[in-house]
Amino acid sequence: MTRTQQLIGWIDDRFPLTKVWNEHLAEYYAPKNFNFWYFFGSLALLVLVNQLLTGIWLTMHYNPSAEGAYESVEYIMRDVPYGWLLRYMHSTGASAFFIVVYLHMFRGMIYGSYRKPRELVWLFGMVIFVLLMAEAFMGYLLPWGNMSYWGAQVIINLFSAVPVYGDELVTWIRGDFLISGATLNRFFALHVVALPIALLLMVFLHIVALHAVGSNNPDGVEIKKLKDDKGIPLDGIPFHPYYTVKDIVGVAGFLFFFCMIIFFFPDGGGFFLEPPNFTPANNLKTPEHIAPVWYFTPFYSVLRAVPDKDLGVVAMGLSLVILFFLPWLDRSPVKSIRYKGPIFKLALALFVISFFILGYLGMKAPTPGRTVMAQITTAYYFFFFFPFLPFYHKFDKTKPVPERVTD
Ligand code: HEM
Repeated sequence: MTRTQQLIGWIDDRFPLTKVWNEHLAEYYAPKNFNFWYFFGSLALLVLVNQLLTGIWLTMHYNPSAEGAYESVEYIMRDVPYGWLLRYMHSTGASAFFIVVYLHMFRGMIYGSYRKPRELVWLFGMVIFVLLMAEAFMGYLLPWGNMSYWGAQVIINLFSAVPVYGDELVTWIRGDFLISGATLNRFFALHVVALPIALLLMVFLHIVALHAVGSNNPDGVEIKKLKDDKGIPLDGIPFHPYYTVKDIVGVAGFLFFFCMIIFFFPDGGGFFLEPPNFTPANNLKTPEHIAPVWYFTPFYSVLRAVPDKDLGVVAMGLSLVILFFLPWLDRSPVKSIRYKGPIFKLALALFVISFFILGYLGMKAPTPGRTVMAQITTAYYFFFFFPFLPFYHKFDKTKPVPERVTD
């Protein structure tokens, strides 16, 4: 027995190291037909680690006070060795996180990964998505730029739509009668401590739930149904080394684009870092046009599409809440888009187009024409979830699902 084996044996007698390694990697059998869309789970993990590490190092130099925040970010950018790199990795990382997570969620939609028995995987995922939105929103206040200030002002004010206690609630969230150092301090605490812990916990539960039932795949076939005499799924391959190695391809492709943006277009043409945020927060000077960062704009458009402000807040909330119900709304007899009919494919394509249009409109100042467009796309957004999803299978012609995965 080598020294390494002895050491592992010593640990195994006290901690289930080999057991966990085998159950979740070396003997975790994943379907052999994972494709491009299956890169985004591991990429989401990569971006999470990037955000945590760069965030810790930014915190070492950042000053969480209304007097010092903006200047400390300038100091990070100019004086801290490689501070600019840390900051861009973190700010571009936030946008990368949403790109990866949106694609990851879309994969779930095309292959029906939210369907039985993976409802909890989806629900934990949705909690992650909401936490991620809160995390990004609070992080955006920290540089204390003018868009940080006014963006937070607009979003926190939305809570005044809550009946009776709305105004008190807004003051309670701000910790003051206007957005101030008190607001900055609590957002800082939540952004660097509370929400990351909650996110990590939810990601852990997400993966535990996934490993309990096993991964879905592009065919939507349950590989656990057909096993060999050793109990190994016929269409399964060990996650390690097959997918640990394959995921490196995804990581390399991702890093290529990520580095390109960080080094050549760090502000993403105003999409990732908005121009008004290059001037300090000023409560007397509203930016010409207040818009949230791109990843919030589809939901922001839903808010603005409704003429009544309070009902707009309800519609925006509903546009998020309805996603939680996806596992129970889709009642098609088949999971994967590969075996669904043309009606579903068309409806999903229109859904994606509507989502993009909503995202675009949310970045622009409203005009009567844009408002009508936002109303049409908002109506379609809701129509897709209900009544379309629960009933379309009555009209759509599905194809027969094969017994085993196709290569
Ligand atoms: C920090 C964010 C997230 C991380 C780190 C993460 C991580 C992962 C990983 C590693 C996997 C397994 C690999 C894969 O199937 O791609 C996975 C699967 C899955 N995730 Fe996530 N995820 C995140 C957010 C979300 C969100 C927001 C949703 C949806 C609301 C979601 C829904 C799913 C589903 C349905 C699966 C199973 C897919 C299948 O088996 O086909 N995840 N996730």
